[in-house]
Amino acid sequence: MSTPQSALSIQSVRLDDANSAIILLDQTLIPNETRYLTLTTQEQVWEAIKELRVRGAPAIGIAAGYGLYLAAKQIAAGLPADAPFATFQASFLAASKYLGSSRPTAVNLFWALERLEACALRHAAQPLAEIVASLRTEAEAIRAEDEQMCKSLGEYGLSLLKPGMGLLTHCNAGTLATARYGTATAPMYLGHERGYDFKVFADETRPLLQGARLTTFELQSAGIDVTLICDNMASIVMKNGWIQAALVGCDRVAANGDAANKIGTSGVAILAKHYNIPFYVFAPTSTIDLKCATGDDIHIELRSPEEVTSKWYARPMAPAGVKAYNPAFDVTDHSLISAIVTENGIAYPPYSQTLAQFVR
Ligand code: MRU
Repeated sequence: MSTPQSALSIQSVRLDDANSAIILLDQTLIPNETRYLTLTTQEQVWEAIKELRVRGAPAIGIAAGYGLYLAAKQIAAGLPADAPFATFQASFLAASKYLGSSRPTAVNLFWALERLEACALRHAAQPLAEIVASLRTEAEAIRAEDEQMCKSLGEYGLSLLKPGMGLLTHCNAGTLATARYGTATAPMYLGHERGYDFKVFADETRPLLQGARLTTFELQSAGIDVTLICDNMASIVMKNGWIQAALVGCDRVAANGDAANKIGTSGVAILAKHYNIPFYVFAPTSTIDLKCATGDDIHIELRSPEEVTSKWYARPMAPAGVKAYNPAFDVTDHSLISAIVTENGIAYPPYSQTLAQFVR
């Protein structure tokens, strides 16, 4: 799928086990600078997730998995080799809780932490060194599985599309947000490779500009035809007849198909419905949370007003002290979603009856 210059060759998160570190592309600096950070403490991992140096639901899960593995390694190093599991577990669970407090909406964060917690429990009878080795294997599996999931999403997604289509996407559900290929972008990369000649329109995605900074960066680098638009231009490109499908990622999908994704996604879905354009949500099963009955159960992260009033601007663009509301995500109602694409197949409405069978 990749050419050497393409963003597909970037690994946004990886483990450097020899140095007990996570090597992370600082996504806040893209597209102006490609800088990798070396994270060795839980506090650094927490900060990197909170500040969106690593972002996108799958990449957050991968970083959290590595972060908890490194925490386990440090905890075990500070204990006698024959320390009881309960002693290790108390600190291990505290580290997991701490990492889980970084961002609330993307379920992949909790899904990854819970996977490592369950792994530790399964190996509780073994020496600490073996528990830590198993945690490393589990954390690496999360990354490897994500790459496979994205590949599969790409094939299923492509089956919904035709050559020459205009595609609209919101935020960045791309290779930077995953182990590789992305979720909503996977069919774009695959289609590009197979000569589909898509015309992609990327919403800039206020306030943090993931579409402008990240999606156009990675699609352009891969040679895909991409056009940047402001969020409030989605309607005109749809009305112009330039969009035949909208493709977005998600941070958490409830059992009834309601899908939380970057703020503004639900507006795109409403527009798509108006213009009779299919609206597809790309959801690796790591992002489906059947414990949430509906979108009302999804905790939406609120972020600093400063991201709306002054971030990115040379000078503030709102009067000092003005109130600003800054929800990082919204929930797209299941009734607006044409299909939910998973790595195990494509779910169609009614999602309350169809979605669960794809979660294995
Ligand atoms: O706040 P972010 O940048 O982490 O939000 C990211 C999104 O909303 C993505 O669309 C979603 O996580 C899917 S990434 C494959």
